[in-house]
Amino acid sequence: MKSYNVAVVGATGMVGQKMLQVLAELKFPVKNLFPMASKRSAGKEILYNGKTYVVEELRDEAFDQDIDIALFSAGGDTSQRFSPVAAAKGVIVIDNSSAFRMDPTVPLVVPEVNPEDLDWHKNIIANPNCSTIQAMVALKPLYDAFGIKRIIFSTYQAVSGSGMKGYAALEGGIKGEKDTFNPHPIAYNCLPQIDTFTDNGYTKEEMKMVNETQKILHDDSLRITATAVRVPVYYAHSESINVEFKKEFTLDEIKSLYSKSPGIVLQDDPEKSIYPLAINAENRDEVFVGRIRRDYSVDNGINLWVVADNIRKGAATNAVQIAFALVERHLI
Ligand code: A2P
Repeated sequence: MKSYNVAVVGATGMVGQKMLQVLAELKFPVKNLFPMASKRSAGKEILYNGKTYVVEELRDEAFDQDIDIALFSAGGDTSQRFSPVAAAKGVIVIDNSSAFRMDPTVPLVVPEVNPEDLDWHKNIIANPNCSTIQAMVALKPLYDAFGIKRIIFSTYQAVSGSGMKGYAALEGGIKGEKDTFNPHPIAYNCLPQIDTFTDNGYTKEEMKMVNETQKILHDDSLRITATAVRVPVYYAHSESINVEFKKEFTLDEIKSLYSKSPGIVLQDDPEKSIYPLAINAENRDEVFVGRIRRDYSVDNGINLWVVADNIRKGAATNAVQIAFALVERHLI
């Protein structure tokens, strides 16, 4: 099997570290690894697949090396600045930031949902927002079978979604330290603000779920609303998703679809209190779906509870799966 030279930009960060772990665990054929981060981390040693690598500073010249794929997770500004440089030098960038997600020339891909969008990439591919990814995996089989009119997302998102600093803020808060990272303490609290507010009163995180869902499903007619909440959980986002279908459905049909859908684990036995839980989704690559029940307030509606590891399927795993899909589709 052919192998590839892979750069991980942001290799010292929460998602970058997980990207390294997932590349090794899922056995992506890596020939040479190029871990990159800011000047602060240059020279630091990191471990990949039992071998030590030295982190290099992210600079334009770094992409003059023989690199096939660069997985970026070093924040939007860094992606904005360096992804086009890498792309122009022939590197395929899989970008975990929000910098290019809504750019019409950049595919936004969840491999279980819209792998065909990879075919028109121009060297930059965007990895969707963590909350959007798990929702798309859960909704695509239903969208195809019954058509969707409207979606209401309510999220319960883990602190690791805001990186090492977000994680540390909860750890410190539980020990009684002051939270200087979040707008209010996250310990013993729920914050109905993730990222900053936009002019319409929604946060950027909420608008990402609306806009990215429409882009991934290629359906601007979808009516979507979202409330995104940060909760004091370290790993895995939980989501309550209310969906109104165009067509009639039965709960058995939905469960049967889920039992056949790749990347989904159905956990739905309320009698035994079996449903998806953040602590069980941690370190897993699948999306867990349960609490499937009819919404009796509309003609064709359901409620779902959807949980996934935000750092794995919501970020690192999805990016690595995109790399695998590029190989499978002979795009690299
Ligand atoms: P560094 O560790 O050198 O600061 P997290 O979101 O978990 O905090 O991780 C952010 C990642 O992005 C880290 O690897 C960080 O590297 C990297 N990063 C942040 N700013 C830059 C930058 N200007 N250039 C390159 N890497 C950056």
